[in-house]
Amino acid sequence: MNRVKNEGTQPFITQPVFNNWEAVPLGWYLLGPAAAVRTRRVQPYELCGQRVVVFRGEDGRLRALDAFCPHMGTDLAIGRVESNQLRCFFHHWRFDGDGACTDVPCGEPIPTRARTQSYDVREKYGFIWIWPDSHAASDVPGFPELEGAEVYAMAGRTMTRPCHPTVNMINGLDAQHLRTVHRIPLEMTLKTEEESDGRTIEFRMEAVLPSATWLQRLVRTVLGERYAYSMRYVDATVGLLRTLEDVRWFGRWRAEPTRMIFAYTPLATGKGQVQPIYIAQRPAGVVGRLASWSRLALTVAGFVWLRDEDGKIYENIRFQPNALLKIDAGVARFIQYVNRLSLSRWSSRVDPADPAA
Ligand code: FES
Ligand SMILES: [Fe+2]
Repeated sequence: MNRVKNEGTQPFITQPVFNNWEAVPLGWYLLGPAAAVRTRRVQPYELCGQRVVVFRGEDGRLRALDAFCPHMGTDLAIGRVESNQLRCFFHHWRFDGDGACTDVPCGEPIPTRARTQSYDVREKYGFIWIWPDSHAASDVPGFPELEGAEVYAMAGRTMTRPCHPTVNMINGLDAQHLRTVHRIPLEMTLKTEEESDGRTIEFRMEAVLPSATWLQRLVRTVLGERYAYSMRYVDATVGLLRTLEDVRWFGRWRAEPTRMIFAYTPLATGKGQVQPIYIAQRPAGVVGRLASWSRLALTVAGFVWLRDEDGKIYENIRFQPNALLKIDAGVARFIQYVNRLSLSRWSSRVDPADPAA
């Protein structure tokens, strides 16, 4: 985090959850590549002010526990995986995937306090995801229209940025910067839809493509008259981006949108990790697969172009919400949504409704 604070002249406004490192919403947090935890191996991760260990048992399944042994606090990352359990290095207590102690080899009975917090942990899109409690409220998010379908998931380059992930998330719904940063002359209109569970919000930006210059007319010939993209946030930990929505190739054939998932993890170092994952349906047949691979290539090219232009904004941003305009309505709505999310046990704040507490 930046140590320059400007506290006297630009006092920081603490929000209940948005841009707040102490408040950790319930949601799926991406840890790292699934291949990083091999069978009978244990791996530590630090995120959201928390150190956890993830181990893969002999059955190939992942389990996750708080990192510090409930006996004397030894780091379980230096322990040993035995069958589907983890044994502490120091006095050899053994824990199962639910955090229960199953063996105290010194001969004394297992004390009732010999228990540690376990976490729901899953593998999806080639990555390990953790829920900050023992039972997740739902599966790792995906695109609703692809539920049950086979997909290709391709990892993009992991980015770490010295700002809170929720600040980084405004990029996906700030339509104004398409013009100012990316020089894309689109007048976007914004529609917002929030689901009743309060966990999901979708922003859809739509535009009629301009036709003032020869280049714009060319783009309009290829893409048709309309363009839209949408960003769907779940628990403010996962963003689901669709581009090329509403597009008709040469004004005739409806395009399949390009899709990307962004997984946002607040790291213990005070940096936000953003993991892009490119997604495409995996149809049967050679032609379908070629189309899918071309769509993936198009998604990568589009994202890499925009990412490099956006990157420097988030290198040193000190976000303040007190001068937002009407055009920033999407950002304001997003902040409200984040501030209402349910917090997990990883939050160190006492009372989320009272930031001063
Ligand atoms: S510290 Fe883990 S068994 Fe003693
Ligand atoms: Fe951008």
